[in-house]
Amino acid sequence: MKEGNVLIFDTTLRDGEQVPGASLTKAEKIEIAKQLEKLNVDVIEAGFPISSPGDFDAVRAISEELTTPIIAGLCRAVKKDIESCAQALKKAKRGRIHTFIGTSDIHVKYITNSTREDILQRSVDAVKFAREFCDDVEYSAMDATRTDFEYLCRIVEETIKAGAGIINIPDSVGYSTPEEFGLLIKNLMNKVPNIDKAIISVHCHNDLGMATANSLSAVLNGARQVECTINGLGERAGNAAIEEIAMALKVRNDFYKTNTNINTKEIYATSKLLTKLTGLAVQANKAIVGQNAFAHASGIHQDAILKKEDTFGIMSPESIGLNGHSIVLTSRSGRHALKHRLKDLGYSIEESELTDIYKQFLDVADRKKEVFNDDLKLIMDRIGKVAR
Ligand code: KIV
Ligand code: ZN
Repeated sequence: MKEGNVLIFDTTLRDGEQVPGASLTKAEKIEIAKQLEKLNVDVIEAGFPISSPGDFDAVRAISEELTTPIIAGLCRAVKKDIESCAQALKKAKRGRIHTFIGTSDIHVKYITNSTREDILQRSVDAVKFAREFCDDVEYSAMDATRTDFEYLCRIVEETIKAGAGIINIPDSVGYSTPEEFGLLIKNLMNKVPNIDKAIISVHCHNDLGMATANSLSAVLNGARQVECTINGLGERAGNAAIEEIAMALKVRNDFYKTNTNINTKEIYATSKLLTKLTGLAVQANKAIVGQNAFAHASGIHQDAILKKEDTFGIMSPESIGLNGHSIVLTSRSGRHALKHRLKDLGYSIEESELTDIYKQFLDVADRKKEVFNDDLKLIMDRIGKVAR
């Protein structure tokens, strides 16, 4: 791992799998975990072992099969959860117990029916208990962004003292804004006396569409681990998307001055695998992995991108594992794009022939939403052109 890089904690198999209809078989989870290993994520949260025998089994199997990433299991700050998690992780080369509890007043009152002092004590006890099984313990203050700041500072300080090496600050309900969340991380870094003894992690949900922006703002303010999922899958509106975090840090390294260990060339294959196995399609205009993310439809854009990629492309399709830009031929396409596609299909066209071919192309394009290669071949047959 390159020093100074932001760690990517993948929670596709845990938070991502909580999406209605996305449930996966053990074999599918192992297949995804292996692909995540190829993607080179630093940590894979493989599941929530106490939640079901199937989840336990999947965490156990992934722990046995994978060698490179840390395998994390989730558990509430409850002894029997922690024991089950430790059991499931037993065979992991590098295992991590990730324990959590709600710390906002609304969670303390309505979920645990408890008090701040009791939650603080339970947090400390859970971390200490988890450390009896595993050196690598992560603690999450669920709903941290709606937690009283002074109380959050105490929780963070005490759980670090108790032995948590990673402290996760989740925006569990996707309520925060980039400025506010960045400031929260900055203030924690400044106010918690032993903060340098732990890695600060963030886990942002996308209820207001700000999960990626919030995570990146946290990175700018000292967070060194980002929890995220492939295709942004996750509870409700989902989590921050790995592909967005990884590519933002890579493409805008000049600004963020930090990177990830992600093998970005595996991004597209990983996204496709998730779509296939969960049955959850990615919206066409989704950043990085959407069908249109590297597609160009306007004639002006097509002409420009064929002359020089950087005119309308800020990253190469190859950098995420795609074969190239896609030029969509429609009635808005110009002669340059048409000629380029015909050349790809093996036709050599003189400038003098192009005017007539373009006219016939527009004729088809006006009748159809998109002109495909077969349509072009028909035009070429009609005028007696043969591909080389
Ligand atoms: O959103 C959340 O707070 C979580 C925790 C369990 C980390 O998923
Ligand atoms: Zn979550």
